[in-house]
Amino acid sequence: MIMVTGAHGQLASLTLDELNSRGAQAVGGSRTAGDGLRHLDFDDPGSLDFEGVSTLVLVSAGYAEDDRVITRHGAVVSAAVRDEVAHIVYTSLTGAGDHLGFALAHRATERLVKTSGLGWTILRNGLYAELFGALLAWSPGGLESAFGTGALAAVARADLAAAAAVVAAEPASHAGRTYELVGDPISADDIAGRLGVPHRTISLGEYRARLLSDNALLPFQPPMLVSTATGVRHGFLDGTSDDLATLVGRPLTDPLTIAADTAASTRAGQL
Ligand SMILES: NC(=O)c1ccc[n+]([C@@H]2O[C@H](COP(=O)([O-])OP(=O)(O)OC[C@H]3O[C@@H](n4cnc5c(N)ncnc54)[C@H](OP(=O)(O)O)[C@@H]3O)[C@@H](O)[C@H]2O)c1
Repeated sequence: MIMVTGAHGQLASLTLDELNSRGAQAVGGSRTAGDGLRHLDFDDPGSLDFEGVSTLVLVSAGYAEDDRVITRHGAVVSAAVRDEVAHIVYTSLTGAGDHLGFALAHRATERLVKTSGLGWTILRNGLYAELFGALLAWSPGGLESAFGTGALAAVARADLAAAAAVVAAEPASHAGRTYELVGDPISADDIAGRLGVPHRTISLGEYRARLLSDNALLPFQPPMLVSTATGVRHGFLDGTSDDLATLVGRPLTDPLTIAADTAASTRAGQL
């Protein structure tokens, strides 16, 4: 049986949909119990039960400081070893993202997975096109961001879910492999152009100041977001790879359309 963690999350739920459409026997794990879901909270090791699971799709549970994320992922790997899971598929971060503020937790988890003694596949996911679109801010004059003219090899979340399902359905064919799952590079100017509005670049200092004054953000988030902005702005996240199209066996979803649609959908809320 395949289990996908974070079942109420967007990537995991799309992955479960993909697996179900392929007729694979897959179950979701979630902090919130629901139809056909197993209760699974990485912060509560007692809840980690992988009995009967042969392939575990470990969807990263970020959104916390590194020590907390690495502890939660470590607890999952230990429980998978105990319960004799055969193969772990871990959704990591693209290699080009090594300098990003949240890279360490991914690389530490990759180490845990690779040294677990279990079969493994690492999916080094690129940044979502949905995320890129959502990180552009609306002003009365159009879009603003600290991305400058830099491009991001953005990828539709649904394509990453399709890749995860392909690998989870036949893990032996992907054992010991690390895939770089990125899309076509797009820039904030491209997104603004698609929407027919101007894009104004703000400095990294102004961006950081705006983030620091946003009470809705947790302390680790401003440095994480600024590292993403500087990475894109200075051309460190635009490298391409054929891995994703090869895995899913079809042309990729256009990331520009996804990013532009996401940016457009945030307009009413921000103006
Ligand atoms: N590549 C990118 O651009 C990008 C962007 C943002 C995040 N990420 C990473 O990729 C992951 C998946 O992305 P997404 O878009 O699906 O995020 P999402 O919609 O926010 O889903 C994240 C899910 O992680 C699960 N989770 C969180 N804390 C957990 C815990 N303590 N124990 C067990 N599960 C926990 C939750 O699932 P349940 O609600 O079912 O418990 C949550 O819904 C994120 O968690 C994050 O690590 C990647």
